Amino acid sequence: MLRTAAWRSRWVTALCLLAVGLIGCSPEHYPQTTLLPRGDFARIADSLLDTTVKWALLVFVLVEGVLVYAIFRFRGKPEDPEPHQTHGNTTVEIIWTVIPALILAAIAVPTVRAIFQTNATPGKDALTIEVVGHQWWWEFRYPEYNLTTANELHVPVGRTVSLRMGSADVIHSFWVPQFAAKRDVFANRETRLWFKAEVAGDYPAQCGEFCGIQHARMAYRIKAQPGEEFQAWVAHMQTLGPKPPAGAKPAAESKPASSSSPSAVQTASAGATVQQPGAAQKPQGSDYATGEQLFMTKGCVGCHSLQAVNAPKGMVGPNLANVGARSYIGAGTLKNTDENLARWIRNPQAIKKGILMPNLGVSEPESRALAAYLRAHQ
Ligand code: CUA
Repeated sequence: MLRTAAWRSRWVTALCLLAVGLIGCSPEHYPQTTLLPRGDFARIADSLLDTTVKWALLVFVLVEGVLVYAIFRFRGKPEDPEPHQTHGNTTVEIIWTVIPALILAAIAVPTVRAIFQTNATPGKDALTIEVVGHQWWWEFRYPEYNLTTANELHVPVGRTVSLRMGSADVIHSFWVPQFAAKRDVFANRETRLWFKAEVAGDYPAQCGEFCGIQHARMAYRIKAQPGEEFQAWVAHMQTLGPKPPAGAKPAAESKPASSSSPSAVQTASAGATVQQPGAAQKPQGSDYATGEQLFMTKGCVGCHSLQAVNAPKGMVGPNLANVGARSYIGAGTLKNTDENLARWIRNPQAIKKGILMPNLGVSEPESRALAAYLRAHQ
């Protein structure tokens, strides 16, 4: 009697734990889930998963049900004689061959259809975006708008995007769980992926292939925006264009910014302030001017472009044209606050060891000035 009660309480505890565990697994709590599709591509994959799981569940319940029934119904007792021995039954064997074959066909047909659907080339009206994986961040180029950005992929809701993807170094995998599947990107060949965002929002995404020690910090965001909002973003980004060629300035003002003369720095900073409309709209204190000077002299400019339009290709570091407006820095590593930005600039290797950005020997005040300068680039 006591034993039965103990068993019953164990069962109740186990069931409660299972229930709590299942509630904890709710996809609502894990935005990086494939179980809440927000685009057509993801829905194709999700419905295939549903089909497969339903068949698997049916098979499981039937087979285990018969097994459990047989265990209890035909349980032997020690005094039972040896059961009658049989070998082979053609009817039964045909049945248990044909039924699984039919179930496999029921899964194979939608699977093959999904493979063709998801590998189809999107129509001409799709928005082409070039994706380049880098250790450890993502570059996004919009040839249609001549724009480049990094780590935040803006897409219009309701318009298919056609991704043409490659890598600058090792194999990465582009993975936007709520919109599409994973697809590897390679240095020497182009892979493609498409999806159409159906619900606006800010979605997390992640490199899906181990690509070195900072693979886990190769995250990015998908900003799915309604058509008008997306067009407004494009229009804004198009103001973040290049400076006019150096030849447009008087010769005396086009000295290299590495000159330590304060007057040369002031001239260069004034020139840039006027010529970068996006940045010029922001209030700029002395930190901005100091930051701009440091950006030119500390080597930042060698790896990062600050222009979204006509951005040079093959830059080593992420494009920073709108870095001030991004939600994260370091490819999803830190929230984009002034404090974090300055900390990152001072000692990136302490935050994301192994990245190509070296510690540049920037002092604390200098890092704050650089952060102020970058913050103005929105
Ligand atoms: Cu890139 Cu993992």
